[in-house]
Amino acid sequence: MKFFVDTAEIDAIAELNALGMVDGVTTNPSLIAKSGRDIMEVTREICDMVSGPVSAEVVALDAETMIKEGRKLTEIAENIAVKVPLTWDGLQACKTLSDEGKMVNVTLCFSANQALLAAKAGATFISPFIGRLDDINIDGLDLIADIREIYDNYGFETEILAASIRTVNHMSECAKIGADVATAPPAVIKSMANHVLTDKGLAGFVKDIEKAGITIL
Ligand code: G3P
Repeated sequence: MKFFVDTAEIDAIAELNALGMVDGVTTNPSLIAKSGRDIMEVTREICDMVSGPVSAEVVALDAETMIKEGRKLTEIAENIAVKVPLTWDGLQACKTLSDEGKMVNVTLCFSANQALLAAKAGATFISPFIGRLDDINIDGLDLIADIREIYDNYGFETEILAASIRTVNHMSECAKIGADVATAPPAVIKSMANHVLTDKGLAGFVKDIEKAGITIL
């Protein structure tokens, strides 16, 4: 499973990238707003750092303007994936931009039918939002499994990019289901290293190291 990092914070991307944990980056208008940076400037900086796909989202709601914005965003770098919302206009923009050979990430997906439409429209990535379904008491992971089954039934090449990931459990379950990509906030990716028994075991080792005076260097 590829790891995308869901942030527009340059330092956080750099830290994870140094460890080989970043196969791509996803941003959205809320993350750009949180960074306080200009969208074109911060997106360019991210593309300079990361060689994998970097999703940058359009802000228009109509297909014609989304297409224009998508073309402008792809001028930033070759690894830009234009992010469009899963609306009828978004699907139209997806079809046009993907026909031009641009990567398109269709976002705000909350149903298997929406994912089916995005694949038919040539999406490179479909972004089902797990956490926001969980928020309304619908199991977001079930949606990932449903889309996996449907795409596999028909050999759709659209990659499932599991999004709105809030917990480390979301990460491991997505990997078990077979999501192609999971995009998560830096804190979730870092938390995957944590285990209470690792901490407990290490504390025991440290005690014995001190008691026996073990040194290596
Ligand atoms: O990848 C989409 C993500 O940014 C949304 O996450 O936690 O706001 O639902 P969240």
